[in-house]
Amino acid sequence: MLHGRDLELRTLRDAVARAADGRGTAVVVGGGVGTGRTALLDAVAVAAGRAGLTVLRAASALVERDFEYGVVRQLFDPLLAAAGADARGRWLAASGGSLPAALAVEPLDRPEPHDQHGRVRELQALLATVGAERPVLVLVDDLQWADTASLQWLNRLVARVAELPVSFVGTTLHGDPGAGRPPVRGLAAAAVPLRARPLGPAAVRGVVAGRFGRAGDPEFLQVCEEVSGGVSLWVRQAAASSGSGLLTVGGL
Ligand SMILES: Nc1ncnc2c1ncn2[C@@H]1O[C@H](COP(=O)(O)OP(=O)(O)OP(=O)(O)O)[C@@H](O)[C@H]1O
Ligand SMILES: [Mg+2]
Repeated sequence: MLHGRDLELRTLRDAVARAADGRGTAVVVGGGVGTGRTALLDAVAVAAGRAGLTVLRAASALVERDFEYGVVRQLFDPLLAAAGADARGRWLAASGGSLPAALAVEPLDRPEPHDQHGRVRELQALLATVGAERPVLVLVDDLQWADTASLQWLNRLVARVAELPVSFVGTTLHGDPGAGRPPVRGLAAAAVPLRARPLGPAAVRGVVAGRFGRAGDPEFLQVCEEVSGGVSLWVRQAAASSGSGLLTVGGL
């Protein structure tokens, strides 16, 4: 359960509603380590699933940053694998017919520089065709580690979302050198910025109450707030450390 995120969830639910209305939007959630960026993606994925959207999701990893189209593959492979032969054939034909049916197992060769735009167009056409059948939410966690080829397409996507039944929500890690790369900055600049803010006192109270099934002592809550700085991960750790005897909550 997420605490203290009413504002952020409203923006994210709005992104879902806009995709469903046929005029999508893009949001990039920024924040430091453990601030709750992935948890916000989880929440919007659930909301989108409930609203009947197709959810395409990828998580970038530093070790895969040089893997061309790695993020694109994560986004599309499960969809293509789960689709029946008819739908798959229809989608790939509409994209121009040169994308392999299983992006993960067949090579998606790096195109010649002059073909790079062609590849981006194909991916864009694929998504537009999929979206025409059912609105889509595209989620990419940790954009700072995404491969450049995928980022090029994502930039194109974000520039066009307002014309499509597709919304995009990504996250970036503040302070990471990868977040300063031009295609990541470009994406963030074109999107609605959202910050995974530190959790306030009420949210910290909620986390502690969720952990123990009862309200925490004021002194304990204050310690949780101070040691965690409101960073979600550390709020949870601080609350959990009570169970190991480091802190006490009303004698627990
Ligand atoms: N609003 C919240 N209320 C309660 N718990 C939260 C909240 N946001 C995140 N958490 C919890 O805090 C922990 C860290 O959250 P999360 O993994 O989403 O952060 P992150 O910014 O993605 O971290 P990382 O830097 O590891 O990618 C998780 O256990 C998550 O469930
Ligand atoms: Mg994360």
